[in-house]
Amino acid sequence: MMFALCFAAIIAVVQSGESDVVAFTKGLVAHAHLTQGDIVTYNKDITNINAVFTSDGKFQVQVPGIYSFHFYSLSRSDSEIWLEFRKNEDYVASIYAYTASDWADAGNTIVMELQAGDTIFVKAVEDYDNSLYGAAGEIYTTFTGELMFSEASGVANPIAFSAGLTKNISLPSGTNVMYDKIITNAGNGFDITTGDFVVPQDGTYMIHYNSLSELGMEMWLELYLNDQYINSAYGQAPHTWADAGNSAILDMKSGDRLRVRGRKGENIVLYGQPDEIYCIFSGVMLTAKNAPAAGANAGQIQAFAAGLTKNQNNGVTTTKVTWDKVFTDHGDNFNQTNGVFTAKVSGVYVFNYHGMGQQDEEVWLELYHNYIYVNSLYGHATHGWAGGSNSAALYLAQGDTVYVDMKDHSTKMFGDADQIYCTFSGYLLAPMVKGSPVVGR
Ligand SMILES: *[C@@H]1O[C@H](CO)[C@@H](O)[C@H](O)[C@H]1NC(C)=O
Ligand SMILES: *[C@@H]1O[C@H](CO)[C@@H](O)[C@H](O)[C@H]1NC(C)=O
Repeated sequence: MMFALCFAAIIAVVQSGESDVVAFTKGLVAHAHLTQGDIVTYNKDITNINAVFTSDGKFQVQVPGIYSFHFYSLSRSDSEIWLEFRKNEDYVASIYAYTASDWADAGNTIVMELQAGDTIFVKAVEDYDNSLYGAAGEIYTTFTGELMFSEASGVANPIAFSAGLTKNISLPSGTNVMYDKIITNAGNGFDITTGDFVVPQDGTYMIHYNSLSELGMEMWLELYLNDQYINSAYGQAPHTWADAGNSAILDMKSGDRLRVRGRKGENIVLYGQPDEIYCIFSGVMLTAKNAPAAGANAGQIQAFAAGLTKNQNNGVTTTKVTWDKVFTDHGDNFNQTNGVFTAKVSGVYVFNYHGMGQQDEEVWLELYHNYIYVNSLYGHATHGWAGGSNSAALYLAQGDTVYVDMKDHSTKMFGDADQIYCTFSGYLLAPMVKGSPVVGR
């Protein structure tokens, strides 16, 4: 019966000519204890559109092309997470989190060019105990992947990059993070001599950055487009390493320079080793790839990004986050008054959200699709600031809504004009109309 259902779903997608749409989000709905380098086997399919997994939990590439992956986790109280992202058996990237007497969040995004048959998976570091948090209505541990450019789709010059840091560096006075390892550089936009992404072509781009501080040190990074401040990531934890990241969707012009810099005047030290890459800067051009070819929204790309420039506490009448700054809203899907994204075009979308709490406070956010819970982020620091992040690929029918909700608790989000840690963004990966949903199997 299960087999018959899956088979029918695959047929439905292939018939509508969308077999090169690949997107998935998997989540963990029970606590997991990993040892001996175990592969993380996510036990809930939040979304699965043409994504194939091996029986031992590896994503197996069927369609060659450039993919974007996001993986996040939350430790159980007073436990560690130390996970590696691998392509086949090759090491690519890591995440680490630990906070004494608290839960700790970490994540990363990697953009990679892959061939058919390649496998991608997340596993525990060898001989290292991991305690990952998971429950049915509390999905922090997720693995999301999406095909950005299929080789067959014929995008002439795909632009996509990921660069990582393989050594410890300190950023004394607002200098650029000098990422020293190129993971992907299609279109040659990333300039390793300056750490800048030099925009090769006018367009709208999806950007991610994630970092880990050196032991006990501060990590305070800022995304700049030329001299314009965009957003920040902050982490600092006594006696441990601290992880944080952010995302943006930006309209940029050819020749613009996008960079991740240290906050001026702060003593920032980032951590990296050749086989421990936590600090990664990535981007993908969205233009042309996500505009519907026909219909009322033909030629119009669908993408938005919003952030918080002031504090927001859990509300009395509504618990939805209302983002006070809109960076971009192509297609006019995002309502700033109530914080709700409403899809004008049916298709597969990818959402990213990041949150940070006020000093010594908690941030606990949930992503909703219509009235259905998708996943969460959580951060709490007894002394200092703590944040979290998550992502999801979702199939939305026209009119479907997506928003970020504050968990009915003591959430106190932090924001300032030049300290935007809390952001919410999304874009249409591929327009698609489905008869029989393959979502949430
Ligand atoms: C980076 O810092 C760690 C301590 O957290 C240290 O063990 C390591 O040797 C340093 N790496 C380099 C290349 O200096
Ligand atoms: C945006 O949300 C507000 C508050 O719910 C509502 O009054 C308004 O009509 C919405 N705007 C659009 C364009 O739907």
